[in-house]
Amino acid sequence: MRIIVLGAAAGGGLPQWNCGCRNCDGARTGRLSAMTQSSIAVSADGESWSILNASPDIRVQLAATPALYPTGLRDMPLRSVLVTNGDIDHVAGLLTLRESQPFALFATPAIHATLAGNPMLAALRADLVARQPVVLDESVEIAPGLTATLFAVPGKVPLYQEGAVVETGLMGENTVGVELVANGRRALYIPGCADLPDWLTNRIAGADLLMFDGTLWEDDEMIRMGLGHKTGRRMGHMPAAGSIAALRDVPVERRVFVHMNNSNPLVDPASPQTHEAEAGGWQVGRDGMEITL
Ligand code: MLT
Ligand code: MN
Ligand code: ZN
Repeated sequence: MRIIVLGAAAGGGLPQWNCGCRNCDGARTGRLSAMTQSSIAVSADGESWSILNASPDIRVQLAATPALYPTGLRDMPLRSVLVTNGDIDHVAGLLTLRESQPFALFATPAIHATLAGNPMLAALRADLVARQPVVLDESVEIAPGLTATLFAVPGKVPLYQEGAVVETGLMGENTVGVELVANGRRALYIPGCADLPDWLTNRIAGADLLMFDGTLWEDDEMIRMGLGHKTGRRMGHMPAAGSIAALRDVPVERRVFVHMNNSNPLVDPASPQTHEAEAGGWQVGRDGMEITL
């Protein structure tokens, strides 16, 4: 199985257009590497690919990824797109994929209903883009030799569907993790997750690779930095420092944080928190990172 991190950042990216924090400024001056928004590409054979989450940055991500370059006049190796929730950073890129390219679009029925409610997405021609509902906990082939099983993880509805009261530990079709299996190897991709209950650490145990929600380092980081009023948990994201602790004794071959918010000290390779994560056996995802299992 080959996995390419197309974008390692959370919604907003690094730098975020309206943010003057130290990390965003660092990405503007070149002190830090910029990061595009949340997406990975996966393949079992290196020829047919599935993209997990369609980021608003997908156009530049595809331009930066030779494995996904066109192989003919109007032919390229993308076979499917799978989305793990309806968040804008995970679905807005679908609009970019409207140029008569056939592919299958995998999501839970609830996420498909959300997408169907957006009239702009009718630009994805029904005769070319097959919208395939995926039942939780049933495996589906998303590219030749590559299967995905979606499973509910604690989360919330997308920002644009939030009501006055927001439940952040919802379990259902709105926020899912993905278990990927190819050539006998098993990887888990969980870019948004509000909590790590025992059943989830048990599911993670023994994986060859875990790619996990690294949105914030600490729950109140955005409040302390003066960047916002929400905690990580309120946004449906468990803090990375807590995930390192919760998964310390869980056997996993390789563990990588993805979906980093620009406030997170993990976006800076020289930060003490990055060293702490690395000492705990984690890598921090970077755009273009490639992993072969
Ligand atoms: C998130 O992961 O919390 C969302 O992407 C936030 C957003 O939609 O901007
Ligand atoms: Mn997000
Ligand atoms: Zn910033």
